[in-house]
Amino acid sequence: MKLILLGPPGAGKGTQAQQLAKKRGLVQLSTGEMLRAAVKAGTEIGLKAKALMDKGELVSDDVVVGIIAERIQQPDCKSGFILDGFPRTLQQAAALDKMLEAKGERMDAVIELKVDYNRLVERIVGRYACAKCGEGYHDRFKRPKVRGVCDVCGSTEFTRRADDNAETVTTRMIAYYRETSPLIGYYFCRGNLHAVDGMAPIEEVGAAIEGIVDSLA
Ligand code: AP5
Repeated sequence: MKLILLGPPGAGKGTQAQQLAKKRGLVQLSTGEMLRAAVKAGTEIGLKAKALMDKGELVSDDVVVGIIAERIQQPDCKSGFILDGFPRTLQQAAALDKMLEAKGERMDAVIELKVDYNRLVERIVGRYACAKCGEGYHDRFKRPKVRGVCDVCGSTEFTRRADDNAETVTTRMIAYYRETSPLIGYYFCRGNLHAVDGMAPIEEVGAAIEGIVDSLA
């Protein structure tokens, strides 16, 4: 099964991709996470990407297409994957189609998460994650069961993303509107677009996505 989770910053792509990947034995491929790992490791790609990411602008198509092209060749992707944050431009979508067509494959479904602007900002500004295992949390919507202790690994250290602030959010939303929202029409015309109400609680959004995945199986 090959899925794309599509939606603006803060729509819940990462949250849902993480849960679905665990439940269905799929690999979560987040270009945002891969780029943040490159920034942390100080690689050439990371150094180039950092300034753009900090400003909330998109990294060049060549870089992200190269990352994904290499990653989906890995053996763990054979049983299926969920793309989270890729593609983000029409050029990236065309490149993805080309990669898959070369193997006689195509994406099974593109799931669009629909969320209002103000809710997106609220979600982004309140987001944090476990510094050790990466489990995602939110100041209001998803708190650890024991305050200050990660539910998954028990760590007491948490981090917030450098681009999760009110100023950068505006630039990220404009990049989404300008570069990524045309993909909704692109996949609609390919007949594999499914829309989900991303305003619902996390569990309900997850159940709606699973319903779509079940209908494809
Ligand atoms: P990336 O890491 O992809 O960030 P993004 O698209 O801005 O998306 P987010 O991670 O902010 O949101 P999300 O939809 O995953 O929401 P989440 O589940 O965390 O990209 C970062 C940067 O990298 C880009 O700006 C760009 O520079 C670069 N980049 C990455 N990919 C690229 C590409 N393909 N091309 C070019 N550049 C690229 O949820 C948010 C919060 O809300 C969490 O706290 C969560 O707990 C909470 N939440 C989630 N769902 C719900 C719900 N249903 N109800 C209540 N709370 C919820």
